[in-house]
Amino acid sequence: MPTVLIVYHSKTGNTEEMAKAVAEGVNSTGAKVIRKRVERTTLQDLLKADGIILGSPTYYGTMAAQIKAFIDRSVKYHGKLEGKVGAAFASGGGLGGGVETTVLDLTKSLLIHGMIVQGDPWGSHYGTVSIGRPNASARRECKKLGEKVARLVTRLAQAS
Ligand SMILES: Cc1cc2nc3c(=O)[nH]c(=O)nc-3n(C[C@H](O)[C@H](O)[C@H](O)COP(=O)(O)O)c2cc1C
Repeated sequence: MPTVLIVYHSKTGNTEEMAKAVAEGVNSTGAKVIRKRVERTTLQDLLKADGIILGSPTYYGTMAAQIKAFIDRSVKYHGKLEGKVGAAFASGGGLGGGVETTVLDLTKSLLIHGMIVQGDPWGSHYGTVSIGRPNASARRECKKLGEKVARLVTRLAQAS
């Protein structure tokens, strides 16, 4: 069964609520989901997963230092994550505060690892974003992100 790992940082719970909705989306496809706060995530977790979804609050227009530090540690397995599916989501305090640049910064790290990132022609094009406590629409987008990643992971597993 394909496994999707959701790794996130959250101080006041907004990104965590998004992570829960992303996990619901993965679950709804029948794929296995592992949702972990970044401080509890190991590099081995990255190696074992077929899909990796990163989530972060926006801090000064980019990802939280905790997530950046984890990505920097992942250099230990540079090249080993190639071909896995990746995606990102981010929470911010306000429109124009850099929530989309946070998603793009997270996505850059996935691409540098050689991962496959699917865009979305509708809704959140780059990855899911939300302001403050995720509302019903943001939760739907998060769920959709989880579903899309899980479906792609499953398709790739069947093709190989
Ligand atoms: C140190 C710090 C820096 C922040 N910088 C930004 C920012 O640049 N842009 C923004 O939109 N929100 C910013 N915020 C607000 C958070 O991104 C926002 O409250 C987010 O929803 C918090 O996520 P969490 O509840 O998962 O911790 C900042 C918050 C903190 C604590």
